Amino acid sequence: MALHRLLRLCQAVVLTLCVSATEDFDWTKNVIGSFHYGTFPTGFSWGAGSSAYQTEGAWDKEGKGMSIWDTFCHKKDRISQNATGDSSCEGYYKIKEDMSLMKDMKLNHYRFSISWPRILPSGMKSDQVNEKGIQHYDNLINMLMENHITPVVTLYHWDLPQALEEKYGGWQNSSMGNFFNDYASLCFERFGNRVKYWITFNNPWSMAVEGYETGEHAPGLRLKGTGAYKAAHNIIKAHATVWHTYDTKWRNKQKGMVGISLSADWGEPVDIMNEGDLEAADRYVQFYLGWFATPLFNGDYPQVMKDYVARKSAQQGLGASRLPSFHPHEMSYIKGTCDFLGIGHFTTRYITQKNYPSNRGAGYFADRDLAELVDPRWPNPGSEWLYSVPWGFRRLLNFVKTQYGNPMIYVTENGVSEKMMCTDLCDEWRMQYLRDYINEMLKAINDGVNVKGYTVWSLLDNFEWDEGYSERFGLYYVDFRSKSKPRYPKASVQYYKRIISSNGFPSQREVESWKRKATETCISSNQLLAADPLTSHMEMVTEIVVPTVCTLCILLSAVFIMFLLKGRP
Ligand code: NOJ
Repeated sequence: MALHRLLRLCQAVVLTLCVSATEDFDWTKNVIGSFHYGTFPTGFSWGAGSSAYQTEGAWDKEGKGMSIWDTFCHKKDRISQNATGDSSCEGYYKIKEDMSLMKDMKLNHYRFSISWPRILPSGMKSDQVNEKGIQHYDNLINMLMENHITPVVTLYHWDLPQALEEKYGGWQNSSMGNFFNDYASLCFERFGNRVKYWITFNNPWSMAVEGYETGEHAPGLRLKGTGAYKAAHNIIKAHATVWHTYDTKWRNKQKGMVGISLSADWGEPVDIMNEGDLEAADRYVQFYLGWFATPLFNGDYPQVMKDYVARKSAQQGLGASRLPSFHPHEMSYIKGTCDFLGIGHFTTRYITQKNYPSNRGAGYFADRDLAELVDPRWPNPGSEWLYSVPWGFRRLLNFVKTQYGNPMIYVTENGVSEKMMCTDLCDEWRMQYLRDYINEMLKAINDGVNVKGYTVWSLLDNFEWDEGYSERFGLYYVDFRSKSKPRYPKASVQYYKRIISSNGFPSQREVESWKRKATETCISSNQLLAADPLTSHMEMVTEIVVPTVCTLCILLSAVFIMFLLKGRP
């Protein structure tokens, strides 16, 4: 009898242990900080990302047309230290070199974007196709295929052809959708036999809000209260058009997928017992991710967004909401146009309810009636806005699962930056960030979220938009002072490599050794980088001084010979 009781007790203990283990995966309970050792599903895809304007350089080479970012950066005082992407990482000329970096990491995929004005200089297919531009992307794709790295291609990472902005007002004009569709069709036609993952737009939230509402990004318009909503409306419809084009014309033959990459921070209520905070946090995510995802999955904007913008517009005395509406036929056209959802995620905010009176200037931010807060203890090594809050990632992924019917997700961007002046290649903070964010993604997969791949942002340090080169997101450090833009591995390259080769986090003992091992290798890279000024000096000597001295010698000898010949009888 006593034995039986003992057995029952043991059973109960085992049961509680199991319950607490599964509790770890209940995202609604605040279990923060526990690390989960385990691996990702077989076939999980590991990658790194880049975008054309941020890395290619060669802004006016081989027939490329101007983009709105070329124009924007060439104006004074728009970008930190008046930097431009004119040469950036010179990625246009370095695909071979960059390929070996990817190969060395054993990446499964590489996410890059095609520059629209590089292949259609005026933006319009009817004008001229730049075959040299096509050739460039052909080479890149072929090289990726030869190295068994799957190309994941973004059609639009913010570099609209300048001519389309000038002639039609860019994304304020619904005709952009047709031009974009022509451009996308050209890409499907030329590259679709090899490219199976297409992303129509990267982070349309930024395009709309920063491009057309706050003006921090190209084209720099400040159409407060209307600009962002109108741009977003046209972008959503343009996405749907391109998805339908692929679906009807290319899918059968090419068997690829078309998705979109949406960015979203997670919004956590300040006080989870306070109804106002709970609703405000939900609004934060709905105005961010839901603005684009809800139309694409459900056919219309989130109800809360429609209600709030309509109410604010009425308070301003406007006859109609500043948020445009979809016609019923448009709703059914845009609904269900995502074969996979790309998620770009970097950080989290605490959210509390806050009323913005309409006389304080109506606009996207005020429409939401909320305030954003951060915990000062959250690590914040680089960009001002980027706090490391790994648990927010798991919550966001679970939100996507429940809100949009558990779609197929590819994490298209996730990473952390450091300041430009930081030349320490032993990036302990990035290793920590990747370890913890990727671990939260693993927990989300165990929660049942359908995540198929992960893309670290970014492969290289690159042009960080209005911040110029002042923030470095790369796994590889790029020395922008040197003309040849050499790349140096940060410790996180080694760390990410180990995550990839183990397909996750095999055991505590092993994972704990990774940082130490990665730090050993970065010390020698630090020495190489420290010697870089000497190398660039030598580069200058070979490139400028040697040819100049040689020319002078030849000239002097010629003069001397002439002088000798003249002196002869
Ligand atoms: C999202 C953008 O898509 C990317 O271009 C940018 O570099 C990162 N965020 C970091 O800010």
